[in-house]
Amino acid sequence: MSVDMRTFLGHVELANPITTAAGCAASGRELAQFFDLHRLGALVTRSITMAPRAGRPTPRMAETPAGLLNAVGLQGPGVDAFLERELPWLAQRGIKTIVSIGGGTVAEYAALARRLADAPGVTAVEVNLSCPNIEDRGRVFAREGGAAAEVIASVRSVMRYDVPVIAKLAPDVADIAAVARACVDAGADALSMINNPLGMSIDTVTLKPALAAVTGGLSGPAILPLAVRCVWQVHSALPGTPIIGVGGVMTGADAFQLILAGACAVGVGTALFHDPYACLRIERELEDLLRARGFQRLADAVGLAHRPPGSAARHLHEESSL
Ligand SMILES: Cc1cc2nc3c(=O)[nH]c(=O)nc-3n(C[C@H](O)[C@H](O)[C@H](O)COP(=O)(O)O)c2cc1C
Repeated sequence: MSVDMRTFLGHVELANPITTAAGCAASGRELAQFFDLHRLGALVTRSITMAPRAGRPTPRMAETPAGLLNAVGLQGPGVDAFLERELPWLAQRGIKTIVSIGGGTVAEYAALARRLADAPGVTAVEVNLSCPNIEDRGRVFAREGGAAAEVIASVRSVMRYDVPVIAKLAPDVADIAAVARACVDAGADALSMINNPLGMSIDTVTLKPALAAVTGGLSGPAILPLAVRCVWQVHSALPGTPIIGVGGVMTGADAFQLILAGACAVGVGTALFHDPYACLRIERELEDLLRARGFQRLADAVGLAHRPPGSAARHLHEESSL
């Protein structure tokens, strides 16, 4: 028996819930050497910026226990090159593409959205809110509901109605549900979480910070419980809003936790660095787990851990008596 793995982000249907995480598969070409990208639920691009960016000085990656610290600094060719070379390559192949954007001002996010609005091949836009607001002392947009909402409203107002706008949230905030609500009230059709919490590591040989940028974003298995907690809290507050759960997913069981917490899709990032096939493996493992637990549809498992005690067991009983 196969499980119906389809899922929806707003009105956009994905054939399965597994996507890449922004910044971990560039714009897809490298990953396409390993497998057919049509097998992904969607490809999420790295965050596209207005101008080309060289990124931060090296070293910009450091391994930590059960994780990875990075301070890449949105390295990329800028929106012109993205629209000329990267997006057409994806569009010509009909690959579901969620374009991530990053900016330093509300006007920059809006200008990026305007550039993408008429470009063929944009399935959805994911707004990376973990960027410093250069008009407000570098305070990260995602840490303040008001600033995050302003960005989302500006992007929503210029995107075509049929292109969902996804707000990507950060975990290191006092009240993630409040930021999520502000984004949804401002027009976000879906949410994605979590971006990297800020971490730091010190090299005990050089006696200096391991990263040139001193602090960096933590990713990998270390942050899965943080992602599960954030998805849980936001799904409790906004049960009707589609969530892409991201953070530390290495296996189908990890993805299943995020689904049970309330995510309807799951992003895979750091796992791709040592296993380019991770998305396919995780999708297969998730489907096997769902089947083994008696689910016929992925949709029936979304947020199931929130249901009153006994209802999950009842679900299993009903399914197994079929
Ligand atoms: C090297 C690297 C680059 C990243 N670049 C971006 C990016 O451009 N935009 C973004 O929204 N998130 C970016 N992220 C965050 C990931 O999309 C993801 O939210 C985070 O790493 C947690 O997932 P993971 O533990 O599966 O990696 C990056 C993460 C890493 C490790």
